[in-house]
Amino acid sequence: MANMENSDPDKMFGLTGHMIWGLSIGALMIIRLTTRILSKSPQQTESGNVMLNSGARIAHLGLYFLVFAMVGSGIGIAISADLFSIVFSGSGPSLPADFNIFPARIAHGAIASFLLILIGLHFAGWAYHQFFLGDHLINRMWFGKRNSPDELTVQPKTTP
Ligand code: HEM
Ligand code: HEM
Repeated sequence: MANMENSDPDKMFGLTGHMIWGLSIGALMIIRLTTRILSKSPQQTESGNVMLNSGARIAHLGLYFLVFAMVGSGIGIAISADLFSIVFSGSGPSLPADFNIFPARIAHGAIASFLLILIGLHFAGWAYHQFFLGDHLINRMWFGKRNSPDELTVQPKTTP
């Protein structure tokens, strides 16, 4: 979308979809975080390395933070450029020639790059657990019992 001129007739369609998806992600993340805080969580994962354990904790916090920052800065652009009126109600002034005049737009682009890097690291962490430790950590992302911490502790595969 960044490569599409604001004067392009398709821009409005792209923006409508982007804003609806972006706001929906924000709503889903609020539901997710509320559930996470209010319900019992599995024990902290044990990777066998103190640095990796705290790195994973920081990375997960970072993922929450950056997703909310994406949505927050997106709303920032929308408020600065009056996009809620222009895009959703078809009223208000026309689109500005370029969104880059708004600090929120610069932040949105920079946060997107950080988020991509962190998702890449997160994916690498998953691959490390899946293929190196062999503990199938991904199974913890599904529904399950939360009452017995023992059942929820991920066991790394044992070598015979
Ligand atoms: C997690 C949610 C979101 C993600 C992952 C996301 C992602 C992106 C990305 C990658 C870009 C292009 C950045 C660049 O190349 O520099 C962008 C641009 C933009 N986003 Fe979002 N966004 C999100 C939420 C939102 C929301 C909630 C809004 C508004 C309510 C919004 C409004 C915009 C606008 C106006 C642009 C500028 C388009 C342009 O420069 O032509 N975004 N977004
Ligand atoms: C590429 C595919 C992905 C895989 C295979 C994956 C895998 C995982 C796994 C296995 C966990 C569980 C860690 C644990 O139980 O301790 C996890 C947690 C998490 N993932 Fe992903 N993930 C992926 C993509 C993403 C993306 C795109 C985001 C957000 C932008 C994300 C955000 C998170 C967060 C915030 C947590 C921590 C959840 C919590 O403890 O509340 N993940 N992921």
